[in-house]
Amino acid sequence: MGLTKNILLWASANRWMKEHLPRYRFVRHAVTRFMPGETLQSALEAVVGLQKEGFSTVLTYLGENVTTLDEAKAVRDHYLAVLDAVHKGAHPTEISLKLTQLGLDLDPAPTRAYMEEILEAAHALGKFVWIDIESSSYVDRTLEIYSTLRKRYPHVGLCLQSYLYRTGDDVASLLPLQPSIRLVKGAYREPESVAYPKKEDVDRNYITLAERLMTELPSRIMKIGIATHDKSITGHIKTIARRLGISPDRFEFQMLYGIGRQAQRQLAQEGYHVRVLISYGSAWFPWYMRRLAERPANVWFVAKSLFVR
Ligand code: FDA
Repeated sequence: MGLTKNILLWASANRWMKEHLPRYRFVRHAVTRFMPGETLQSALEAVVGLQKEGFSTVLTYLGENVTTLDEAKAVRDHYLAVLDAVHKGAHPTEISLKLTQLGLDLDPAPTRAYMEEILEAAHALGKFVWIDIESSSYVDRTLEIYSTLRKRYPHVGLCLQSYLYRTGDDVASLLPLQPSIRLVKGAYREPESVAYPKKEDVDRNYITLAERLMTELPSRIMKIGIATHDKSITGHIKTIARRLGISPDRFEFQMLYGIGRQAQRQLAQEGYHVRVLISYGSAWFPWYMRRLAERPANVWFVAKSLFVR
């Protein structure tokens, strides 16, 4: 892993930086490239704009590692309000959340209970819910909660990371549940003991896992989100889909708001389903550092915004 990437991922987990850096106007200005704003209203406006361009969306309220159950309850209440708002607006929007945002660091029992309340509400409104995957120390607990929830709710999906050596085994253990999987490369700082250190291995594993998931459609995999901006990988996926006779409406590409706009349009024009993940909220610092780390050249945009207003 490059030095800049390493420093940015270290910064993403640094409490002092999280509290202090967002106070600087140029940092706040730079983050607008990746999010439409801090409020739900700004995210909903982005939903409408993207919908007009033919994109589906998924909303995520930024925040992770809450330190009290009251904070976790507030997050649950927020997501219940989001479900209500997207239902009232008739938006084809899903939601995506982190279990540490619902208290996983404190106690898995209320986390699961809050998830159940969210899934009950989503079910009643016909909405789909994704569970993000966080750093490797949370994977066992996240899989355990996902497996319990999936037995009761069909409309819940889980994100898995191709940089982890274990993910092939995790896919195998989840298949009997007929899961929905969003596949990503992985965004956290992980040791070589758990994750491939080289990009080419992460990419190769991504393609292997994606093909495995696509092969299991629809009997043992319900829904697949190919979540990447990597053009080489999206090219491979299209080829695999053609070879397996999987039509474009049986899976979707997912990308982040503000990243790969041209690629998003191109895929949509080719008839693929593209879903854009829109993040919003004031707790954006760790998430933003991970976005910078994905492409260290992004740091230049931050530097430039010191001078350009
Ligand atoms: P890669 O990093 O190789 O990038 C490929 C190309 O895309 C780059 O060369 C660049 O052109 C462009 N690009 C990628 N990131 C960019 C950025 N930040 N700024 C500008 N250009 C960029 N991770 C995780 O661990 N848990 C999760 O739950 C999720 N959830 C999730 C949902 C969705 C919808 C997406 C798209 C991604 C995630 N991720 C995630 C993040 C994921 O793990 C990964 O870090 C990023 O998607 C970047 O990896 P790529 O697959 O795009 O490839």
